[in-house]
Amino acid sequence: MNISAPINDLSPIVAADRAHVWHHLTQHKPFETIDPRVVVEGKDLRVWDATGRETLDAVSGGVWTVNVGYGQVSIADAVRDQLVKMNFFAGAVGTVPGALFAQRLIEKMPGMSRVYYSNSGSEANEKAYKMVRQIAHRRHGGNKWKILYRERDYHGTTIAALASGGQEERKAMYGPFPAGFIPVPHCLEYRSQWGDVADYGVRAANAIEEVILREGPDSVGALILEPVTAGGGVITPPEGYWPRVQEICRKHDILLIIDEVVCGVGRTGTWFGYQNYGVQPDIVTMAKGVASGYAAISCTVTTERVFELFKDDAEDPMGYFRDISTFGGCTAGPAAALENMRIIEDDGLLDNCLTMGARLMDNLHALQERHAVIGQVRGKGLFCGAELVADRATKEALPEKQVAAVVAATMKRGVQIGMTNRSLPGLNNTLCLSPALVATADQIDQITDAIDGALTEVCG
Ligand SMILES: Cc1ncc(COP(=O)(O)O)c(C=O)c1O
Repeated sequence: MNISAPINDLSPIVAADRAHVWHHLTQHKPFETIDPRVVVEGKDLRVWDATGRETLDAVSGGVWTVNVGYGQVSIADAVRDQLVKMNFFAGAVGTVPGALFAQRLIEKMPGMSRVYYSNSGSEANEKAYKMVRQIAHRRHGGNKWKILYRERDYHGTTIAALASGGQEERKAMYGPFPAGFIPVPHCLEYRSQWGDVADYGVRAANAIEEVILREGPDSVGALILEPVTAGGGVITPPEGYWPRVQEICRKHDILLIIDEVVCGVGRTGTWFGYQNYGVQPDIVTMAKGVASGYAAISCTVTTERVFELFKDDAEDPMGYFRDISTFGGCTAGPAAALENMRIIEDDGLLDNCLTMGARLMDNLHALQERHAVIGQVRGKGLFCGAELVADRATKEALPEKQVAAVVAATMKRGVQIGMTNRSLPGLNNTLCLSPALVATADQIDQITDAIDGALTEVCG
């Protein structure tokens, strides 16, 4: 490639991408005849690609990440300043942004105490699992090593994280998986497993206890849950669910790990999703929105009680947490995260998230009245989903291809939305919306207007 190519001629870049980049979660056959999409520039919610086309991004970088929007110069400046001063040192020692961000983060998380840095959501969850396993060996004579996860939740792409994923299509052909990851039922009342029950939330939580009793409470060390299930269909927890989950974990001495990789840092209008539901976790993991994609960072945050379990015997050479993540020592992540948090605070983005989230939900409900294909609308803050059905009465899911056609027709109207994809056999039928927390009322309306047109075009 000629790197001195004029900036307005991006065809060599597109050609290089087409020739050499293996894209995530993508079938490349179509790129034999069409160009891959290459994004070039972003500002707030707007993105320009190599063809010069502008789109409004309603999914924060495709995967719920760019919470403060594109083009935040102060984050780039903070990262640049930090990198020229001190870019990296192995995480066995401290750094200035690492210490400062940990302090700021813990201020937002009453009851939590320690921050362990790594690079991705998957990795943050792997750290949590290793903590649980080590606690099992040191505290429970090798028992309490199993980790429960929920159907439809997702916790990452590495093999153990995938083993704890409740989305069968993501797991297919990547097994065999490590032992000890046990599924519990999902909590989507719209697709109730127990018919029309009065207290669905409590019933779904009790279903977790049934699994614990079946497996044996002595064998179960932890339960991992998303506060609001993301890629599994934007599932908000039913009434009564979380208090009962907490009760069950305490009763059976089971650590509660909350995966905040999507909800974390503002997405639901609170700093963390679990804070909407009055629950107190033992371990919290987070990644995407922590630095809004300006740098790679993830955190595994624990209570002091969990942390203490790893420093009780200084003479035991195997007693502390023997984990390392080279790039967990990069300073760009916490430097970006500090500035990201400042922007959320100073610009009132939690409030904006609630206001714009309410507008988005209202607009979606209005669409539901006009389009029979929308079976249910769900969401919290700027984290919304619309489940599409072929038949409202039977709730038969709209086929994935048609849902994809709605996404494409929305894109044709200049708005990028998402959908559950390659996750749940026969149930990849939820449109996903997660605009940046800086979204304006006009942009929210632009998103739902585009969906309106797309639904009419594809579904009549
Ligand atoms: C809830 C949840 N947890 C964990 C992950 C994994 O994060 P990463 O892709 O950064 O490894 C994801 C990714 O989408 C996620 O949605």
